[in-house]
Amino acid sequence: MSVYAVIPAAGTGERFGAPVPKPLVELCGRPVLAHTLAVFEQCAGIDGIILVVHPRYHQEYSALVARYGFSRVTAVVDGGATRSASVRNALRALPAQASCVIVHDSVRPLVTPELISQGLALAAVDRAAIAAVPVKPSLKLVDPQTRLVRETLDRSLVWDIQTPQVFERNLLERAHAQDFVADDDSALVEKCGVPVRVYMGDYKNIKITTAEDLLVARAFMEAAVKEPHVSARLV
Ligand code: C5P
Repeated sequence: MSVYAVIPAAGTGERFGAPVPKPLVELCGRPVLAHTLAVFEQCAGIDGIILVVHPRYHQEYSALVARYGFSRVTAVVDGGATRSASVRNALRALPAQASCVIVHDSVRPLVTPELISQGLALAAVDRAAIAAVPVKPSLKLVDPQTRLVRETLDRSLVWDIQTPQVFERNLLERAHAQDFVADDDSALVEKCGVPVRVYMGDYKNIKITTAEDLLVARAFMEAAVKEPHVSARLV
């Protein structure tokens, strides 16, 4: 099995409000993306990494890869207008031998080698495996016009979907050949009628979307350095 990671980093980060895209924002001494790529560099069984970047910042991203010596990054490709379009561009850059693809958001720097390995093992059996965590809050569907509650969801059935998401290559390509846009790749696979296996992610594996998420990520990273055993028991 030849395994490639696709790291979409081509967002502009409008919700974040920084002068540079989120993957380039500094977190505990290095860019968010450098933390994420470092985990994939050290994870066993990955043959290459395709990094998808915003064309305006192509040079900055290539410089980051060179500066940190990420030798497993085999291609830096330009993304598209949506996350789906960005992943699709990466799929075109996969080498012929790639048989399994791990998609992971560039802005989830607290991913671990264990989460990646678990996804790989499950996808080898189930073809599609995604990390997720059971939700903690109570959730309701609310009418957008009237703001009246439509329905209270059964919390025990609702999971917060994360990445890594691991797929058989052919399946992911088929999913992306459909005329749909989705926030995550597994939604496209579901549209193909193929069941997707969910496995236990990590509450610390947050996606840095807004400025307060950066504070939380920093707290997790500092705790992991200062008190690794306590940090491991936090969730
Ligand atoms: O926008 P969202 O938070 O869903 O972005 C998740 C990941 O997808 C981020 O790493 C972002 O850089 C990436 N992305 C992309 N191309 C886009 C939009 C988002 O690669 N057009």
